[in-house]
Amino acid sequence: MCGIVGYMGPRPAVPVVIEGLRRLQYRGYDSAGVAVHTDGGLCIVRATGKLIELEKKLDAEPLSGHLALGHTRWATHGRPSETNAHPHRTGGVAVIHNGIFENAEQIKARLTGNGSRFHSETDTEVLAHLVHSSLRTAKNLAEAVRKSLQKLKGSYAVAVMSESTPGTLVGARSGAPLIVGIGEVPGEYILASDLPALLPFTRRVIFLDDGDIAEITPKGITVTTMDGKKVRRAVTQVEMDPVSAEKGGYKHFMLKEIHEQPVAVSDALTGRLTARGLSFPAGKLDLQKIDRVIILGCGTSWHAAQIGRQWIEQLARLPASAEVASEFRYRDPVVSKSTLAIAVSQSGETADTLQALRLASERGAQTLAIVNALGSTMTREADETLLMHAGPEIGVASTKCFTNALVCLLLAAMELARIRRKLAPVGQQRILRELKHLPVWLEKVLRLESEIEKLAIRHREARNFLFLGRGDLAPVALEGALKLKEVSYIHAEGYPAGEMKHGPIAMLDRSFPVVSIMRKGAQLDKTASNLAEVRAREAPVIVIADRAGAKLAASGDDLITVPDTGDLVAPIILSVPLQLFAYHVAVHNGCDVDQPRNLAKSVTVE
Ligand code: M6R
Repeated sequence: MCGIVGYMGPRPAVPVVIEGLRRLQYRGYDSAGVAVHTDGGLCIVRATGKLIELEKKLDAEPLSGHLALGHTRWATHGRPSETNAHPHRTGGVAVIHNGIFENAEQIKARLTGNGSRFHSETDTEVLAHLVHSSLRTAKNLAEAVRKSLQKLKGSYAVAVMSESTPGTLVGARSGAPLIVGIGEVPGEYILASDLPALLPFTRRVIFLDDGDIAEITPKGITVTTMDGKKVRRAVTQVEMDPVSAEKGGYKHFMLKEIHEQPVAVSDALTGRLTARGLSFPAGKLDLQKIDRVIILGCGTSWHAAQIGRQWIEQLARLPASAEVASEFRYRDPVVSKSTLAIAVSQSGETADTLQALRLASERGAQTLAIVNALGSTMTREADETLLMHAGPEIGVASTKCFTNALVCLLLAAMELARIRRKLAPVGQQRILRELKHLPVWLEKVLRLESEIEKLAIRHREARNFLFLGRGDLAPVALEGALKLKEVSYIHAEGYPAGEMKHGPIAMLDRSFPVVSIMRKGAQLDKTASNLAEVRAREAPVIVIADRAGAKLAASGDDLITVPDTGDLVAPIILSVPLQLFAYHVAVHNGCDVDQPRNLAKSVTVE
C-alpha cells in the first residue's frame, strides 16, 4: 500500500525522504516520487518500479531543498506509470495521497468542464486542483487543504506543499494513518504514514486522529479539525527499536519473523500470565453481559479468527462466528449490546476490518481490537485493545502476527470462559501450562527447517497444491495455502478435509500434491480415510502431523513430524512448517518473498 513521507527542517530534505520511503518499502508499491521546494521553485521527480529507479534519477538530476514530500504508490486508480505516480502537481501545489477519493470522478468532470486539465488517471490529482484554486481565497495552505477536503469523500492521508508557502507543510487524515515526528533539532518535522519511516530520525511522535489537519511550520505544529477548531494532540515517546525492524542476519524479513515466534509469544504472554493465573485487561468491557462473539478479520487475520471462534465455543460455550470483514460490513448483521465484536488485525488499519468494527460498534456491540501496530486506528477506536506484542512485522506475508493473534484470542477465550464459570481452575491451569510451554515447542518445530527446506525443493515445481485439515486444523490448511500462494504465486487451495470429496478431488492427479495437516484428536481417523482417497488418485501426499498423525503416513508419503503439544496450541505449532514450506518454495523459485507482487502489507482501501 502507498507510503507517505514529508520533511521540513535544517537537513537536506531529499535524503531524509528517501530513507523514510526505504523504510516503507515493505508495504508494497509500484512507483515512487518526490517533490522538493528548491531555490528555483517546486521540482518533482517520479519513477516507476522500485525506489532505486527514483534514486538513479535523483543522482542524475540532484534536487536540494529543506522542504520535500515523498511517496511510494500502489496503484488503485490508474495503472502503475510515471504519470500516475505521486506527487501530483497543479500550478505550484504538490500533493501526495494514500487511500481513495470516492467522488473524484464527479469533481474531475466538473473541473474539466470549467477548463481544468488533468494529466493523470488518478483520483489524487483532483486534490491538487482543488487546493490550487482554494489558495486564491484561503488565508493559508491549511485552510485551502481543509476547504478542498470538505468537497471530497473517501478515506485518505494526504500531505501538501505549495510554492507560494515555502515554509509550510500540511498533512491531513481520515481513515488512513498519518503521524508527525518531531525531529531532534528545533524546526525539524517529519510526516509519515507509518512509524518505521520516522524511527531513524525521531522517537517523539504525534498520532493524528481522523479529521485532523496538521499545519507544520518552522515555529511548530498546529492541529485543527475539519471545522477549523484547534485541538491538542499528545506527543508520544515511541519505544520501538529501529534495529528490530532490520533483518538481523536473516536473508529475508519473512524468515526472521518466522524465527522470532518463540520470543514474540513470550512477549505476548508477559504480564498476562501471572503466578495467580490469567491477568486479562478487560478495561471498559463488561464481559458479564456478553452472549455472543463476532470475530472480524481479513486474510491471515480471518484465519486466526476461525480458530479463535472454535476456542470461544469450546471453552466459554458462547456462540461465536468468524466473519470476513469485507462481507460483514455490507451485510445487515444482527448485533446487539450483548455482542462482543473482536477485530483481529496486524496493522490495525485494514479498511474493511475497521469499517466492520465501526458498524458493530454503531449497532451497540462492545468492541475489542487484537492488533499489533501500536497507535493504529483500531486501537484508538475500539473499547479495549489487546496488543499482539509481536514487534514490527515487515514481511508482507504475515507469520508471527498470525501466531500472536492466536495467543491473544486464546487469552480472550479463557477470560470469557472464566467469567461464565465454564472453566474450572484446574482447566485454566492446564491451558496456562500449555501457553507457557508454547515458546519451547516453537523452538523445537523451528529446528525442522532443513528437513522442510528439502521438502520444498522436492515439490517446488508443482503448479497446484491442496491443503487439508479438520476441526481447528481446517483454518490452518487455509492459512498454509494462503502463505504458499502469496509468496510463491503457486495455486494453492485450503479445504476442510471432509469437503474434498465434494469437488476438489476432481482435480487430483500425480502432479497435484496434497498437504494433510493432522494431529491427535481433530478426527484423525476421518482424515486418514480422506488421505486414502487422495492416494487412490496417485496425488503426492505430504503429511504434517504430530506423532499420532505421523503413524497414518504411508510409505510413499513425505512426512514432517512436529513435537506433541497440548491440544489447544497444536494449530499454532502445525502452522509453522507450512510457513517455512511456503518460504523455501518461494526462495528456491526466485520469488521476492518480502514484497510479493501485487500485495501490500497494510490494505487501507476497500
Ligand atoms: O493488517 P491485517 O491483519 O488487518 O491484514 C489483513 C490481511 O490483509 C493480511 O492478513 C494479508 O492476508 C496478509 N498478506 C497475509 O499474509
